[in-house]
Amino acid sequence: MRTWHCEWPRENCGTRYSALFTSTIGSGALCLALGLATMTTSAYGIEMRPFGETEDGTAVEEYTLTNENGISVGFITYGGIVTSINVPDRDGNTDNVVLGFDNLEDYRTKNPYFGTITGRYANRIGGASFMLDGETYTLAANNGPNSLHGGETGFDKQVWNAREVETDEGEALELAYVSPDGEEGYPGTLDVTVVYTLTNDDELRVDYTATTDKPTVVNLTSHSYFNLGGEGTGTILDHELMLNASRYTPVDETLIPTGELAEVAGTPFDFREATVIGERVRENHQQIVYGRGYDHNWVLDRPDDDSLVLAARLHDPESGRIMEIETTEPGIQFYSGNFLDATLVGTSGNIYRQSDGLALETQHFPDSPNKPDFPSTVLRPGETYETTTVHRFLTDGS
Ligand code: GLA
Repeated sequence: MRTWHCEWPRENCGTRYSALFTSTIGSGALCLALGLATMTTSAYGIEMRPFGETEDGTAVEEYTLTNENGISVGFITYGGIVTSINVPDRDGNTDNVVLGFDNLEDYRTKNPYFGTITGRYANRIGGASFMLDGETYTLAANNGPNSLHGGETGFDKQVWNAREVETDEGEALELAYVSPDGEEGYPGTLDVTVVYTLTNDDELRVDYTATTDKPTVVNLTSHSYFNLGGEGTGTILDHELMLNASRYTPVDETLIPTGELAEVAGTPFDFREATVIGERVRENHQQIVYGRGYDHNWVLDRPDDDSLVLAARLHDPESGRIMEIETTEPGIQFYSGNFLDATLVGTSGNIYRQSDGLALETQHFPDSPNKPDFPSTVLRPGETYETTTVHRFLTDGS
């Protein structure tokens, strides 16, 4: 089956979305018959297409934002999942640099958080419980004894409401979800919005906001697995990574932070200078053993305010692609795709083996609700949770 994207003159549609038609034959003729002016696979603006239905019949859409330079980002309303980020290499060849699937069923049933909006609490809460204002809250233990990424049905498995928003920076869409009081054991109705903006400076900007009607805890992130050589093309162990962090949070054998902020100096966790990821990932260091590789939170070197600070720089020497991440968050989880085990077939039909993608999840520290010395993740009525993370794409030829 071939999919054709037909750019519909906006004044004719009454919306800013272009239409998409799918047909086995004669798609081109269909577009012409409708008097459509152009037929492209990537047009500046926003496109929308159906992406299937959930088990209860809720329709899921895929949106594609394309900027003036032809860079595009796709995401679906299920889980707010980023399904593709198409960026050029140093020779101008475009590839999709995030892992994913080509169908909703796989995202629903076997997704190891590819591209998801992750919450209400991204990463782990130890013992799947926490205490807030003297009350103990019990969560689903979905990762050994701990709660991971918001529980059994986290924000990654909800269908979000999409709406276009006006920005001066580029094409943008807002996703909204209201998490009911008590959902997955968390107190308070949480009103969440996530805005994806693709700027004409080749940045994917993600703005998160949340408010609550009862005290609760919140930690939101975006969980794309990147491979700057292109999804399904091989390992990320040859990528060079820089992390702007002098300390990290060591973990126990269940990947819960011990509470210590350890210096990275002299350890395989020192990425202050850009370092090839595979260089030290097989070192017999207790923390690497616990994580089966890198699966840790780094404490960013940043002022104690809400400014955007460079957190990470990832470079693929082969393709020349570079991604820089700036964030308002205090931490970043670097996960080297340790649990990928060749059982998943990715977007373009290749299987994903260990370390075929890596995640860089900007966040508050794991298990903060049980760690009074970590920056607080408590949100109270009247306050607004607001964080921003920017992914900037460039090449070493630019
Ligand atoms: C995070 C966790 C990892 C793993 C991935 C998803 O990065 O820290 O241990 O669970 O999410 O597979």
